[in-house]
Amino acid sequence: MVIVRTIEELQEAKKVLLGSIGFVPTMGALHHGHLSLIRQARKENEHLVVSIFVNPTQFLEGEDLDSYPRKDEADIKICELAGVDILFMPTIDQMYERDELCIGAPAIKGYVLEGEKRPGHFDGMLQVVMKLLNLSGASRAYFGKKDAQQLALIMQMVKNYFMDVEIIPCEIVRDDNGLALSSRNIYLDADEKQRALALSRSLKRATKLVMAGELNVEAIKKVMLNVLKDADEVEYVAIVDREFNALKEVEIGNTIILVAAWVGKPRLIDNLWI
Ligand code: PAF
Repeated sequence: MVIVRTIEELQEAKKVLLGSIGFVPTMGALHHGHLSLIRQARKENEHLVVSIFVNPTQFLEGEDLDSYPRKDEADIKICELAGVDILFMPTIDQMYERDELCIGAPAIKGYVLEGEKRPGHFDGMLQVVMKLLNLSGASRAYFGKKDAQQLALIMQMVKNYFMDVEIIPCEIVRDDNGLALSSRNIYLDADEKQRALALSRSLKRATKLVMAGELNVEAIKKVMLNVLKDADEVEYVAIVDREFNALKEVEIGNTIILVAAWVGKPRLIDNLWI
């Protein structure tokens, strides 16, 4: 594995790669969720590029940019063991100029739910993903379904800008108790970790209701909100179609149920695709 920190080094390292490139962009503090993306990318491509870059433009004022978990040494080992060919770890200066062209998230899909709660987040995320996809030369890029709206927006960007890369959605990875893996879970103490299970529990309850024939969105949300009482503050429970339009009734095969809630220090998100 080669570790590259500049654009020039990356271009140089890529020259010897002949064949398909799988790419997994990350912000580091790698966990089993990332590892499942990396493993899938390894299996499906001849070459594997991973990036670790805590992108400042997708953090809002007052968010955890400065305290975002950084574990470079462990991350490098994980990538090495997972068979990564090139690990790209750029500095901010490598990625950004002072006066940059911006990409805006689409007006509807980009400004509901996460887009409404974190205005500007998706613009910064799309900006860096565009840069990383272009730099990596990826044939396929792998993103987790946990960030469902992020995934939908990246797919739309690739379509709208005719980018020559296939976006591969990957399943959410959970711990044994059902908690969706996230780098921010390390902020949770034992009690909060227990209470954080309310998110996945509420989604499980929703599945059971749908399986029992309940399709009414308000009825499902009511039950979910009751389960979510263990969280400190619920930001939203939403039931939308795959284009992020609000639904009145669950449409089997075209629905995502999403939840965002604060438990202790971190703001957690989870979702379920039905
Ligand atoms: O999902 C993430 O970790 C980030 O949003 C991404 C896609 C690496 C862009 O910074």
